[in-house]
Amino acid sequence: MITYISNIADNELLQNNNTLFVVLTEFKNSNIAELQTLKDTKISEFPLFTASKNTLYINIANDMSKIDTLDLRVKGENLVTIAQKYCTKNIKNYAFIADEILSENIFSALIDGIHLGEYTYNHYKSKKNSIQKDTHDTALHTYIVTTSKKKAERDAWARGVKFTKDMINTPPSIANPSYIEAQTRELFTNIKNIKITSLLENELQTLGAGGILSVGQASPDQSRFLVIEYNNSESSKHPIGLVGKGVTYDTGGLSLKPSNAMTGMKKDMGGAATIIGGVYACAKMEIKENIVAVIPLAENLISEKAYKPDDIITMMNGTTVEITNTDAEGRLLLGDALVYIEQTFAPRVLIDMATLTGACAYAIGEDISAVFSNNEELYTHLETASHATDEPIWRLPLYKKYKNKIQSKIADIVNAATGFKAGTIQAALFLQHFVHEDTAWSHFDIAYSSFDSKTNFATGQNVRLLYNFIQNNNIQ
Ligand code: BES
Ligand code: MG
Ligand code: ZN
Repeated sequence: MITYISNIADNELLQNNNTLFVVLTEFKNSNIAELQTLKDTKISEFPLFTASKNTLYINIANDMSKIDTLDLRVKGENLVTIAQKYCTKNIKNYAFIADEILSENIFSALIDGIHLGEYTYNHYKSKKNSIQKDTHDTALHTYIVTTSKKKAERDAWARGVKFTKDMINTPPSIANPSYIEAQTRELFTNIKNIKITSLLENELQTLGAGGILSVGQASPDQSRFLVIEYNNSESSKHPIGLVGKGVTYDTGGLSLKPSNAMTGMKKDMGGAATIIGGVYACAKMEIKENIVAVIPLAENLISEKAYKPDDIITMMNGTTVEITNTDAEGRLLLGDALVYIEQTFAPRVLIDMATLTGACAYAIGEDISAVFSNNEELYTHLETASHATDEPIWRLPLYKKYKNKIQSKIADIVNAATGFKAGTIQAALFLQHFVHEDTAWSHFDIAYSSFDSKTNFATGQNVRLLYNFIQNNNIQ
């Protein structure tokens, strides 16, 4: 838990010697050079200095003007670990103090990093975080000493990011569609202007949502559309529409994934989790906007009920799809969700996020989200949000001539074409079939950017981007 305080003197808890003060500073502007240098600087990418047993100086940079804020934020995620390491038995709190010399963007990058780095997922460790367990009976408490007004905002998105990460990190036999729904309802308890509904299989049948129903039909847990409405602007203002892929486990279905490719597929609801985290941040900050999120949730499993390669299914807008591969399932439930959100809510802007294609990593690597857009203004706004949050995106084309690649001989389209290497573009072109051409729409492929394959934990990336975009866009 992070608490903001504007002044150390104001806080009694920090008075009695039980706090480690961590001063974040620029080397050249202070006299810390005179301080004793620690021998062990291996745990940190920052040089550390101690003044007394209760004060730790961290040298953020030798020259702040040369610093890259993305780099700093990423490094800043280790600050909590560093502080914890220097806490001894008697120390129950640590307080980060940012020197006045830090400019607003550097300060922001560091504090954002602390917020992101404070997250740990040790729910399933029978022995909790070893550093804390060894020396402390109770959890350490993080304080940030600042007068910055952005603290409410940071708290809001940090809670959103935590939710997103928790959902993705949770094992798949727990995080099934009903669990994601229940957790979402709990997250939004006491949040104003929110209405949550869910459409279960009988209603999806009435709607003719053959995509999501096919994908989820082998699962004992019901597939559903979770609909989150946030209304805090004029009722005449069309909402921002959001859709997030919520495949709570992707075995590939009968087109079964090889085991090394299946491991990790609990993350296949990353789009859903990111959208929910982003909407939470917006709602918590009570921003003046109308937002609607449609989250299609289903499990892609195998049983005697599973949908089959060679099946032909009918999507909610009547498009028939020849199933050539049951592992190309995300586009099926997204197609229905895109049709539903447009028919029901007529959003003025539509954004979907999905862990859609393995090919995404070959196109642009693991850190960057691939983004498609049929609207220049929308993409420009997203790019601005990407720069503001240091969450990288890169645009790929909705190249018209490739559309014929997904034609089917027996139905309207196939769900997976053979012999076409640009899988990320192919999937985006499939989705485009389900979006009205006049709607300003963007699709994010976050297959890799939402999950760190080195640490095997969720990144939470794109929650801040989404929050920043929704807060600052002025698309009418
Ligand atoms: N969930 C996967 C995409 C994925 C792969 C996400 C790796 C994260 C990491 C998706 O449902 C899938 O299986 N896509 C197939 C599509 C193919 C069958 C056309 C893929 O990318 O191989
Ligand atoms: Mg799949
Ligand atoms: Zn999938």
